[in-house]
Amino acid sequence: MYKIAVLPGDGTGLEQVNEGLKVLKAAEKKYGFKLETEHYDLGGDRYLKTGEILPESVLEELKTFDAIFLGAIGHPDVKPGILEKGLLLNLRFQLDLYVNLRPVKLFPGVSTPLKDKGPDDIDFVVVRENTEGLYAGAGGFLRKGTPQEVAVQESVNTRFGVERCLRYAFEYCRDKRDRKKLTLCGKTNVLTYAFDLWERAFYDIGTEFPGVELDYAHVDAISMWMVKNPEWFDVIVTDNLFGDIITDLGAMIQGGMGIAAGGNIHPGKVSMFEPIGGSAPKYTGKGVINPLASICSGAMMLDHLGEGDAAGRIEEVVAEVCSSKLKSLNAGQMGYSTSEVGDLVAEAL
Ligand code: IPM
Ligand code: MN
Repeated sequence: MYKIAVLPGDGTGLEQVNEGLKVLKAAEKKYGFKLETEHYDLGGDRYLKTGEILPESVLEELKTFDAIFLGAIGHPDVKPGILEKGLLLNLRFQLDLYVNLRPVKLFPGVSTPLKDKGPDDIDFVVVRENTEGLYAGAGGFLRKGTPQEVAVQESVNTRFGVERCLRYAFEYCRDKRDRKKLTLCGKTNVLTYAFDLWERAFYDIGTEFPGVELDYAHVDAISMWMVKNPEWFDVIVTDNLFGDIITDLGAMIQGGMGIAAGGNIHPGKVSMFEPIGGSAPKYTGKGVINPLASICSGAMMLDHLGEGDAAGRIEEVVAEVCSSKLKSLNAGQMGYSTSEVGDLVAEAL
């Protein structure tokens, strides 16, 4: 029995989590576990009505669950930044979810914009540091609103934070991958403080993992290689902002935001699973968005909870549905509605 907090969030978030939950429920019977879910109405609507974003008492409750299943955050009537920082980033920071794990995997039959590349070429994961860097909120304004205004935004990199993220990546490589190549993505030629620390920690820890091949690429170069030679990558580890950027690129080469899933993870503690894409408010209630990102994030949640067989099977079924049923992974072009796609996966499971 696992206790799951469900946070549909904003926009199409509810449609996404509904299908994710449908598939998780189908897996329950077959794999002999049980999920006890509780919904929370955190998000833009609650904020507009009550002014509350993430009340302290709710945060404390969330800590008592085994995992959190999130839809999407972002409301058209709320100024950008308020919900993102107050809810999504706040949860990542308060729960100390220091790894953002984002697989980039092209399933058979799914079209990629990369010419001549297929499922054998596009199959890697990004381990994004999730609590520090430019996201930490360090910095501020001087003389705000004057012509002499200064805005400083600092990247915070602690040896502790960097090391635990790198260790996660090394262990992931050792335990989960066949090729065992770990690429550090940085910018050591310009960010000579932050990535000096990352690089030293990377090669220090690397000595403890003789089976892992160490590799380095600058973030600009990796953006090029992810398009030109994605087959070079197996596991990429990087800081918060670079990880944010390259995983949107990753989502596109794996077939789009409709299938891109991720996990905000603190090993052994309550962790949070979500589609990488946003709330797509213009599609709300239309039944056209692709729920596979939520379904795949549900599979990642099961894997985190120790239900690896069920997680693996959901991934296989998603691959089958992609190759044999869906016309496209894009919203409105799948040939099926949102809930029909959920049905296809649940029934095949
Ligand atoms: C993501 C999103 C968030 C981020 C935003 C919504 C704050 O883009 O999960 O990648 O930048 O991390
Ligand atoms: Mn992002």
